Amino acid sequence: MVFSKETKIGIVGAGTMGIGIAQVAASFGHEVMIWDDFGKALVSGEERLKKNLTRQIEKGKMDRPQGDQILSKIHFLNHNAKGYPPRYAECEMIIEAVVEDLEIKKELFAAIEHVAKKNCVLVTNTSSLSVTSIASACHHPARVLGLHFFNPAPVMPLVELIPGIRTGEEVVESIKELIRSWDKTVVQAKDTPGFIVNRIARPFYGEALRIYDEGIADFATIDWAMKTLGKFPMGPFALIDLIGNDINYAVTQSIFQETYFDPRYKPSITQKRYVQAGLLGQKTGQGFYDYREGAKNPEPRCDENLGNEILFRILSMLINEAAEALHFRVANREDIDVAMSKGVNYPRGLLKWGEEIGLEKVMRYLKGLYDNYGEDRYRVSPLLRQKVQDKESFYPSSWAS
Ligand SMILES: NC(=O)c1ccc[n+]([C@@H]2O[C@H](COP(=O)([O-])OP(=O)(O)OC[C@H]3O[C@@H](n4cnc5c(N)ncnc54)[C@H](O)[C@@H]3O)[C@@H](O)[C@H]2O)c1
Repeated sequence: MVFSKETKIGIVGAGTMGIGIAQVAASFGHEVMIWDDFGKALVSGEERLKKNLTRQIEKGKMDRPQGDQILSKIHFLNHNAKGYPPRYAECEMIIEAVVEDLEIKKELFAAIEHVAKKNCVLVTNTSSLSVTSIASACHHPARVLGLHFFNPAPVMPLVELIPGIRTGEEVVESIKELIRSWDKTVVQAKDTPGFIVNRIARPFYGEALRIYDEGIADFATIDWAMKTLGKFPMGPFALIDLIGNDINYAVTQSIFQETYFDPRYKPSITQKRYVQAGLLGQKTGQGFYDYREGAKNPEPRCDENLGNEILFRILSMLINEAAEALHFRVANREDIDVAMSKGVNYPRGLLKWGEEIGLEKVMRYLKGLYDNYGEDRYRVSPLLRQKVQDKESFYPSSWAS
């Protein structure tokens, strides 16, 4: 199974991700067929794509002929009849980017398998659902796999590749090659809740909310600590407001449920109330911050001792989560570190960061939280404990730079 520029790519769903992925594939020379079962979405998707390309031309990131070339490669399929457009039968790979709903995706995969040619690889861009479960709707689950692109797809360098339990080894290797040829960094994740990035990032939000709930600091101060002292690109509350409180809460809730209610992922009641109140973030004008014109937001308390305490607590939880993901073979150590720096722009990979701080220091701090609260949420990952006990490193010394 070898893919090249001649490989035709089908995309189902012309929303945010479908359009973004179409742009990426077309800019690397592929013919792309895209369709959406909601006609207006196809029209607005095409308009959005044109706007994106114009913006990139204006910024000097591409010239007009390049923009025109990309547009000419993307075919917006006009199909109003029942079922999926027959032109998907020309494709060697079809990527599904429709709503995040397991039943809808399973129905789609069952139906598209009848339209697709025999050797066509079927991909889901799900951010949280099980690839194995989606693939179970197909007669040939060996050709189904997950590719989790990040938003905006043309800009974000990371793609998580998730084989289902029955995905063929050849499919994994050839798709990996193809996505690398699109200048993306591919990390491979086990089909587990949240894959790599969405799982390991949970404490960034969850522990920040917990610190707020305990009255240790307000949103602005926690954000200041993470951004200014920790060098994260955004603080947790500003980031939730950007993502959308409803989306961020739904991801946490899904991971909590899918892990059989592991207390480490327990959602925050405060966040739930914000969602219930319609304070969803930038998209509704108000979230943890107020984005309406003329609104005044609180200033952070720039106390370095308090800020370092907040940073160390959240960071220790993140490092522990990265160690736990490695312990359970969600991904290898390099992929875990690369995923967090390229998927969510963390300043450093967490396993390396833990080693720079000192694994023993991180472990002692977590044990202190555990003793203080008596909650399983703060349990130390067995791998982190073992590394400390055996005076070992996540990386051999030649890697630890
Ligand atoms: N938005 C993100 O930041 C992001 C990032 C990574 C992954 N994802 C995942 O990508 C997928 C798509 O997300 P999105 O943000 O682009 O959603 P979106 O709501 O912007 O677009 C989804 C589109 O799918 C269409 N659709 C729904 N059912 C369909 C069907 N059966 N056949 C054809 N079209 C159908 C809808 O009309 C809509 O236009 C989801 O699984 C989501 O979890 C989203």
